[in-house]
Amino acid sequence: MSLSNQQTAVVTGASSGIGAATARALSKRGLTVHVLARRSGRLAEQTGCIPHVLDVRDTETLKSLLNSLNVDILINNAGVGRGYKSLAEAHSSDIDCTIETNVQAAVHAVHAVLPSMLKKGSGHIVNIGSMAGLYSLPSALYGASKAAIHLMSQDLRLELEGTGIRVTEICPGRVRTEFYDAAVDEPEEREKMKDSGIDELTGDDIAESIIYALDAPWRVNVNRIELQPTEQIYGGSQFTPRERP
Ligand SMILES: NC(=O)c1ccc[n+]([C@@H]2O[C@H](COP(=O)([O-])OP(=O)(O)OC[C@H]3O[C@@H](n4cnc5c(N)ncnc54)[C@H](OP(=O)(O)O)[C@@H]3O)[C@@H](O)[C@H]2O)c1
Repeated sequence: MSLSNQQTAVVTGASSGIGAATARALSKRGLTVHVLARRSGRLAEQTGCIPHVLDVRDTETLKSLLNSLNVDILINNAGVGRGYKSLAEAHSSDIDCTIETNVQAAVHAVHAVLPSMLKKGSGHIVNIGSMAGLYSLPSALYGASKAAIHLMSQDLRLELEGTGIRVTEICPGRVRTEFYDAAVDEPEEREKMKDSGIDELTGDDIAESIIYALDAPWRVNVNRIELQPTEQIYGGSQFTPRERP
C-alpha cells in the first residue's frame, strides 16, 4: 500500500507551513487532497487542493466532514504554539487553544477516520508531533500537547495491530513557518522568538519525510521520524550560573 495505491488524503492545517507543503506534495503524486483550515483564501492559494474552511476545534463539523470522505491518508497536522514561551505567562485561553487544537482535535480526527479504514483494512495516519513531545524544553504547555501526540501514535499502533492501518509520527525541530506568528501576539517578543539565527528546516523538508513514510512498501511501518536542523540540538542539559547574593 504505497502512495500509488491510495486515492484520498486529508491534510488538517494546510493554509501554511508544513500542512501546505505536504498537501502540494501529495497533490503532485496524483492523490485527491482535501485541505482544512480557518483561512479560506490561503487554503486555495497555498495548495490548489479541495478546500474546507473549518476550525478543527469544532468537533461536530470536523467529524461530519471526515465521515463523509473515504479517507486513505490522514495528515493530522493543525497545531498552534499559544503559550509556547511559558506556562506561567500563558492566558487560560492559550491553554484551551493549544490543548483543543493540538490534542483534542487530533484525537477526534483519528476517531473519525478509523471506521472506514478498519472496514477497508488499510489506511495511513500521520500525526505531526514535535521534538518538544520527545525531549524536554522550557515549553510545558506545548510539550504536554505534543507528548500526547507521541503516546497516541505509539498506542494506536498497538490498538491497530493486524488491521492493516499504519501509523507514523513526524517529529520536527525548528521549521521556518508561520508557527511563531500565530503563537505570539506581542511584536517584539514574536520577532525575538522567530529569530533563531540558524538555518531552519522548511515545510518542504518535512513534506518529503512524510512522503517517504507514505510511499514505503506496505510491509514497512515508519513509526517515527525525527528531523532537526543541523544547527539545533535537543536532549542535553545546560548550566547557567547565576550571580549569588
Ligand atoms: N514550525 C515548527 O518549528 C514546528 C516544529 C515542530 C512541530 N510543528 C508542528 O507542525 C504543525 C504545523 O505547524 P507549522 O509549523 O506549519 O505552523 P503554521 O505555518 O502556523 O501552520 C499551522 C496550520 O494549522 C492551522 N490551524 C491552526 N489552528 C487551527 C484550527 N483551530 N482549525 C483549523 N486549522 C488550524 C493553520 O491554519 P489557519 O490559521 O488558517 O486555521 C495553519 O494552516 C503543528 O502541529 C506544529 O505544532 C511545528
